Amino acid sequence: MPLQIAIDGPAASGKTTVARMVAQRLGILYLDTGAMYRALAYVALQMKTDVDNGPALARLYEKHPLHVTLDESSPLGFRIRALGRELGDDVLHSPEVTAVVSTVAAHAEVRDMLVPAQRELAAQGSVVMAGRDIGTVVLPHAQVKIYLDASVAARVERRRAQIEAAGGRIDAELLAQELAERDALDRTRAVSPLEPAAGAHIIDSSAMTAAQVVDEVCAIAQRAARGGA
Ligand code: DC
Repeated sequence: MPLQIAIDGPAASGKTTVARMVAQRLGILYLDTGAMYRALAYVALQMKTDVDNGPALARLYEKHPLHVTLDESSPLGFRIRALGRELGDDVLHSPEVTAVVSTVAAHAEVRDMLVPAQRELAAQGSVVMAGRDIGTVVLPHAQVKIYLDASVAARVERRRAQIEAAGGRIDAELLAQELAERDALDRTRAVSPLEPAAGAHIIDSSAMTAAQVVDEVCAIAQRAARGGA
């Protein structure tokens, strides 16, 4: 039976780093579902679609669908094409996209489009999927569910290190405020809010390295594969 590992948690909790490392270690597929919401937000900005209008975003997706392929050898570990081009991390994590993506992701019409697409991708084989509603909605039968949390201070510090490593600069206070705002939107939205799935293993990674979290997730996955929880 294919193994499904769902990793949910707030922004910058380390989900995508950990999910990709777990997938590499286990030799299985990987998808960061946040990238799909980001890709749709990008298409909306490009096509000047109102990000507050759920039905318009659904029509936009029908006209300009996202083409996602799970490909470990690609820079992100998967490829997303839209509007005739492959979208890189620079586009998906641009400040413009980040500013509107929580609004885009909050619409039921958008989730009704993207969740079935994510389930179809998961059906390709054993997979690690990262997001906000993977254990609760997208893959409710996943054998392994992880809720990866971290303090705001730890998340700001990680994001700062990432941005500075790429040669950028950030205002830590502004970043903390932006993370708190996005968390609030993701946790309080009416449709599929961010919350730990029933049976999820809650890991607080504030004082852990990514490698330590990966070890713990893989140990949980091994126990699940042997039939334990
Ligand atoms: O993980 P991220 O920051 O790239 O996610 C971008 C946005 O997409 C975030 O505001 C929450 C939303 N999202 C979601 O609603 N459901 C998912 N499965 C993944 C992301």
